[in-house]
Amino acid sequence: MTPTLSDVESLARQAGDILRAGFVRRPGIETRLQVHYKGAVDLVTEMDHRSEQFLVEEIKRRFPGNSILTEESGNHAGDACCLWYIDPLDGTVNYAHGVPIFVVSIAYAEGGSVRLGVVYDPMQDECFSAERGHGAWLNGMPIQVAQADDLDGSLLVTGFPYDVRTNPQNNLDHYARFALVSQGVRRLGAAALDLCYVANGRFDGYWELRLKPWDLAAGGLIAAEAGATVTDLNGGLEYLDMPCTILAANAPLHAQMLALLHSGFEASSSELSKE
Ligand code: IPD
Ligand code: CA
Ligand code: CA
Repeated sequence: MTPTLSDVESLARQAGDILRAGFVRRPGIETRLQVHYKGAVDLVTEMDHRSEQFLVEEIKRRFPGNSILTEESGNHAGDACCLWYIDPLDGTVNYAHGVPIFVVSIAYAEGGSVRLGVVYDPMQDECFSAERGHGAWLNGMPIQVAQADDLDGSLLVTGFPYDVRTNPQNNLDHYARFALVSQGVRRLGAAALDLCYVANGRFDGYWELRLKPWDLAAGGLIAAEAGATVTDLNGGLEYLDMPCTILAANAPLHAQMLALLHSGFEASSSELSKE
């Protein structure tokens, strides 16, 4: 059976309900969530696992034989033609601290091309979705990227990798450069949501380095279907190839941002070549 966009939306909403139910709204008063550290600042909560377990079980039950790539349990091998990308909780650090900015991100690809993407924000009840060739929506209403074409008045967003403390390619140099030429650069802490906010015109542009395919597969399609140019930092379309880099904005801003990123890369051009 082939999934429809409403199948994927229903899965994302149910996983989002699980996350909302487990969210600690007053971490100063209520018991904080159990946290396990994957790295110095890379953590995982029991809710990442619960959301993921629900999604993997449901996909295996309803779409038997499909392959699934998830953040927490890795590769569930199946038919190579049909691949699901799952980030069961994008924005884990926010979630663990009681900051209500996090999403569920699910994409479905056929023959190596992402066909369906859904990013659900359970705290805002905002469901971003897209189907390749058919458009992008927020709660069923069409969305479109912002039209602004000057960096000067643009609101941008980015993020930083978990090894920010130890890896010199930590994006802080690019952040400083964009902060000086834009209206502002935000750091929401959820890559999938960053892409959806570009899709919806809330942010004008987004870039980030060293992400994972499950961070980008759904949001990348949503941004592209909303009219964004979505590429890796070389300007190519391979932004789901590890280690993933991404740049999303309307076409004129994308060109300006790519140029600025490359002016910064001159000193360390190896950063753009795949590690
Ligand atoms: C992280 C978030 C964050 C980005 C990190 C990601 P997680 O995903 O998307 O915004 O900067 O690099 O790993 O760990 O919250 O699923
Ligand atoms: Ca993520
Ligand atoms: Ca995650």
